[in-house]
Amino acid sequence: MTDPASWIGTAYEDRTLVTQVGELHADTAGDDVTPPSDRPPTSSTTLPSLVLRMFDVAEIEEGMKVLDLGTGSGYSAALLGHRLGDDRVLSVDVDEYLVSAARRRLATFGRAPRMTTIDATHALPEDGFDRAVAMFSTRTIPSTWLAAVRSGGVISTTLAGTSLHLRVTVTDATHAHGRVASHGARFMPVRSGPEDGSALHRVYLAARTADGDEVRAFDGDVPNIRDDWRLALLLELLQPAVDHRWIDLDDRSMVWLLHASGSWARAEVPKFGGRPTVHSSGPLDLWGHLDRARHLTSEHGPIEPSSLHVEIDSHDQRITWPAGGLSFPL
Ligand SMILES: C[S@@+](CC[C@H](N)C(=O)[O-])C[C@H]1O[C@@H](n2cnc3c(N)ncnc32)[C@H](O)[C@@H]1O
Repeated sequence: MTDPASWIGTAYEDRTLVTQVGELHADTAGDDVTPPSDRPPTSSTTLPSLVLRMFDVAEIEEGMKVLDLGTGSGYSAALLGHRLGDDRVLSVDVDEYLVSAARRRLATFGRAPRMTTIDATHALPEDGFDRAVAMFSTRTIPSTWLAAVRSGGVISTTLAGTSLHLRVTVTDATHAHGRVASHGARFMPVRSGPEDGSALHRVYLAARTADGDEVRAFDGDVPNIRDDWRLALLLELLQPAVDHRWIDLDDRSMVWLLHASGSWARAEVPKFGGRPTVHSSGPLDLWGHLDRARHLTSEHGPIEPSSLHVEIDSHDQRITWPAGGLSFPL
């Protein structure tokens, strides 16, 4: 991406542009630097249609005061400032460089929403927001977000390790309730500072071909979590933060279930006869969860995100699937 003439076209495409990997930022990396392949992105300018979907689900209206969680490139803050007025927007990011670069970038075209460097999972500098929109994902909704949004205000956010996009209405500083949007959305996970993020990749390297602690044969097909996103969603609710990968070789298909804590399972399915096998390692029974997701789906039908309820209080956050008669703690 060294040709400045192509930048404007790229910026207007509907795709995510990674701007930072680990500590390496695109502004300062130099043209000939290749980002490390074992480290996930730590900042990006989000897919524009996804930014709009996050806003749309929040139902942001004229005159509202909005908290933009995860400044990144400053794209979402610029849109909000343009639509609502810069003084109605507070944008926060944990990374000081990103905040100062976004501030400078937006100033070049006359936008100046308020921006602050802060770990947004801690106390926020203001409260009384009508809306909070998060563009990084967390395992649960931080209590500080409930405290920052007024009663009756709305939070639009995603759950780390899942494709669940939550819309919750705040009742008071410790309670909220809501639903899950019908379309999935994924954001990079929350971070608290400089970090490595390569744990999952290390688990994948270990799981690629190793025998593991246990090898078992099984009958039947491997559940198709690559194409069946509802099945994948149910698996993520049963076992949060599970990652799955799949490859098709000439003679077999391989599916991996991975968890950053070190547990993994790998199914190998021969294409020309022979029984499929599952290798696994670590305390989490990832394959068992996938099996359960498959059984629940055939018993109750595919899980429908928009049928899920979200309940939040200071002790417990959970998602209920009424059709399956199940409730999942976050
Ligand atoms: C996907 S980017 C945000 C994209 C941006 N809003 C846009 O419109 O393009 C996610 C951002 O969340 C930030 N982030 C991650 N953890 C955070 C935390 N604990 N507090 C504040 N920001 C955080 C990251 O530094 C990253 O810049």
